[in-house]
Amino acid sequence: MAERERILIVDDETSIRKLLHQKLSRQGYHCEEAGSAEEALEKMRANPAELMILDIKMPGKSGIELLPEIKGKYADTAVIMATALTEAGIAIQCMKQGADDYICKPFNLEEIALSVDKTLEKRRLELQIREYQEHLQEKVDQQTKEIRRLFLGAIEALVFALEAKDEYTAGHSRRVTKIALAIGKEVGLPKDAIEDLRWGSLLHDVGKIAVDQSIQNKPSRLTSDEYQHIMIHAQVGAGIVKPVVNDRVVEMIEHHHDHYDGSGLHQTVAGEDIPLGARILAVADAFDAMTSDRPYRPAMTVEEALREIKRCVDTQFDPVVARAFLKISSSLPTVEGSQATASKTSKTRRVR
Ligand SMILES: [Fe+2]
Repeated sequence: MAERERILIVDDETSIRKLLHQKLSRQGYHCEEAGSAEEALEKMRANPAELMILDIKMPGKSGIELLPEIKGKYADTAVIMATALTEAGIAIQCMKQGADDYICKPFNLEEIALSVDKTLEKRRLELQIREYQEHLQEKVDQQTKEIRRLFLGAIEALVFALEAKDEYTAGHSRRVTKIALAIGKEVGLPKDAIEDLRWGSLLHDVGKIAVDQSIQNKPSRLTSDEYQHIMIHAQVGAGIVKPVVNDRVVEMIEHHHDHYDGSGLHQTVAGEDIPLGARILAVADAFDAMTSDRPYRPAMTVEEALREIKRCVDTQFDPVVARAFLKISSSLPTVEGSQATASKTSKTRRVR
């Protein structure tokens, strides 16, 4: 409804302001007046109008000078320039600079009312379109997030199903995630990196879907070919999750078996060039693997596994990450409740 829209009439001539004020008030608009550019700015600061009728020629700051300032500060305020007939060229120039319309002096009050109605109607439509577009974008963003969440949830369920099939790996990804997140917090990762680490940890072994179960569950030492076959899971897993996670998570999964000193299988990077998430995952993954029973060996005790991590600092593991893990290891619920507590007698150190 037009009744609530406010119009600020800016003109140095009182009689013109009164004339426009009367006419537009009768049309149902709420009008205010300003006799100069400075007064107009003051009134806009206090309460921005939806429409400004702005005289081009005024003593002090002119309407032409005020126009860009108004459009810059109050983009949603429509502006109609008021000009003498002889200044039509200047008025057109103003339109190019963002004015919505112009009216010529001497005024035809009916034409002015028409211009005001038309300009405010155009403004209303523009605001509605913008609001619609913003909501549309918000809706698209929400749905994209939801699709991603559902897809990641499905992959996560697949990982848990894969693990559940095998008594030796049941719960591995969830435990690794708990440990990795605790390390991530200890080394001071920011919130978004923690979220990446959570997904990287939960999904790190999804590529095992491509691994031959008979090799994975082989109760004896693997041949070199068999070991190479198992290790493809890092690359395969990165490929599976690539369409729905960011590059940081993909790289984390791809490099989670990299050794800090570069001695891992088919390793392309070493040291700090291995993504930090992957270096964290490597420690968490190794600890949980060592403290869990495997077909070819019983679980190590927590103490043995911690000693093994310590022994591999600087070679297999990033020293900063490994030390952060060793520092927090006693307070990890996973450590207290891991399979290792039930297997205190193990002596085997082979980890797959
Ligand atoms: Fe793995």
